[in-house]
Order: sequence, then structure tokens, then C-alpha cells
Amino acid sequence: MTRIGVLTGGGDCPGLDAVIRAVVRRGLTQGPHSFMGFRNGWLGVLNDDAVELTLDGTSGILTHGGTLLGTSRTDPMSLGRKGLDAITRTLSFRGVDALVAIGGDGTLSGARDLRREGISIVAVPKTIDNDVAGTDASVGFHTAVQIATDAIDRLHTTAESHNRVMLVEVMGRNAGWIATCAGMAGGADAILVPERPFDVDAICAQLHRRHQRGRSFSIIVVAEGARPHTVEDQSGHASRGDEPGSAQPGSIATRLQHEIQARTGYETRATILGHVQRGGTPIAYDRILATRFGIAATDAAIGGRFGTMTALVGTEVLTVDLEQALQSAKPLDPRLYETAAVFFG
Ligand code: F6P
Repeated sequence: MTRIGVLTGGGDCPGLDAVIRAVVRRGLTQGPHSFMGFRNGWLGVLNDDAVELTLDGTSGILTHGGTLLGTSRTDPMSLGRKGLDAITRTLSFRGVDALVAIGGDGTLSGARDLRREGISIVAVPKTIDNDVAGTDASVGFHTAVQIATDAIDRLHTTAESHNRVMLVEVMGRNAGWIATCAGMAGGADAILVPERPFDVDAICAQLHRRHQRGRSFSIIVVAEGARPHTVEDQSGHASRGDEPGSAQPGSIATRLQHEIQARTGYETRATILGHVQRGGTPIAYDRILATRFGIAATDAAIGGRFGTMTALVGTEVLTVDLEQALQSAKPLDPRLYETAAVFFG
């Protein structure tokens, strides 16, 4: 019998409960295995804050958003040796043989570090940003794209009625996956992503060209981490804070709203979707991916394949080496951006 511990860490997203459900259900069909959930990510393992996961307690949660276990961005290695001792103590006290850690790059880096210390861990990638390497998709990404696409569709009709430029800011501090996919699906006239610093003059020229050919409204999708290519070009002030992914006062969409309106004279509005993108029920794609990942993670945990991460490769769900997956980030595929760009302007 294997006793499997489960935790969810990092920003929440739709599909986490579907993974938990699949872990428990798969485990129960494979033998008399048992399950322990740790609350609030690595914090629950550090503090021994745990709850027994049962068939009853994990039924009816396939469609739930958020995570029944709660989450946090706690780094399990932040306390050094003391933290590692606390984690080892909790796992041994609870009789946990294997941990399934469901998270994005932060949570999975913690899993990798603990694996290096000999802890038995299997990882499941989840992030709406879709920036975990080694897998074609992470749990939550496609739902976020759908939510953003629905919002763009709605903004389209009001943009058209008012002859306005609409900026839609989506999540993605370091990666433009949501912006590009939602922009493509929503028929965006321009998409700004962290991987490609933009030029405001070029955007304004593009808007003018659209107007000249009779299109009096435009939709621009902007990832929160998108930045102009050099700040000297825009305002005369360069700083480290202008690098992609770094914090700037005010959102990028709000700053662009003023700049575009001032330069073009076109009425411009900004909408920041924010955490709406992480809320609510997962779409069918994520329910299925989460279920497949949960099953694969349980099989890996029972089979003793530690230090692995579940991954979607093409249409197959596999387990890949976690250490290797975390060696690089997964920036936006430039070919996908080029496809979206065919429809710009
Ligand atoms: O990492 C996922 C993510 O949703 C990012 O896209 C976003 O920048 C960040 O989390 C927001 O974090 P928080 O919920 O802590 O504000």
C-alpha cells in the first residue's frame, strides 16, 4: 500500500480539484492506497496541516474552480535545513510514502529541490501562463484562454459601437501564451507580449492604416508583462524596471491607453481582466487534461518513478524528468505569434 500526499501551490487555477479527484480515484482502483492532502501548498507540509482525502470527500469536485486544499507561494527551502527537517518529520509522522505536488514553476522548483534531498515526489504542471517547459500544456491554461476570449468577444461589440480602440490586458508576466491564443481566437488587431518588446509608434501607425481603410475600431490584446522595446524611445527614462516581467507603476494597458489616445486622437479604453482569468469552472479541455495528469501522477507515485513530472507531449500524456523540465522556461512559440500576426492591422 502506498500513502500518497497531495498539495497545490502557487496561483490557483481551474482544474486543480479535477487533478486531486483523479489522484484519489486512480489510487483506489489500483489497490488499498490512501491519501493525505496538505493545506496551502508547501506551507501545509512544513506545518503539518493535513486532511485525509477520501472517495466521498473528493467526489463531485470535477467542475470546481480553485482548490479544496488551498494554496500559497511558500518556498519549502526558504527555511533551509530547519524546513527540510520539518518536511521530513511531517511526511514520516503522516506515513506519506510519495508526494504529488501540483503547481507552476515556483512550486515545482520546490519539488525539484526536495527531490534532490531524497523526498519522493511526482509533479503535475498547472499554470494559466502555460510557461512550464517539458509539457505542451499546463492545467488551467486553456480555461484562461477561453475566459479571455469571451471577454474580447464582448469588448468587440462595444469597441465597434463607439469607434474605440480597446486594450485588453491579460495575465502573463513573462510569457505571452494567453495573450496570443486569446488574441488569435478573438480576432485581435494587435497582440503585445513580453517576448517581443513593442514600438508605440508602430502600433499607432497600424491603427491609422486600419482607420484609413474604414475600420474605425481596434482590439489590442496586451500581456501584463509586455514592455516597449526601450523606454528611451517612449519617455527618455531607462531603468532596470523596464525589463519584461518587472513591476512598473500602473498597468501596461492603462499606460498605453493614455499614450495611444494622445498620439492618435482615437478614443481608447483599457480593460484589465486580472484574476477573473483564474476563477470559475474549468472548461472540458482542462477537466480532461487534469484527469489524465492525475492518473499519470498516481501511477508514477505508486510505481516509484520519483522526480518526474506529468506532461502532455502531442496527444500523449507521459512522465518526463522534472529536473530537465525546469532547466528552461517556455517562452511563447514564435511561429504561433507569426500566425496571429497575419491578422494584425
Ligand atoms: O503565475 C500565474 C499568475 O496568474 C500570473 O499570470 C500573474 O502575473 C500572477 O499569477 C498573479 O499573482 P497573484 O495572484 O499573486 O496576484
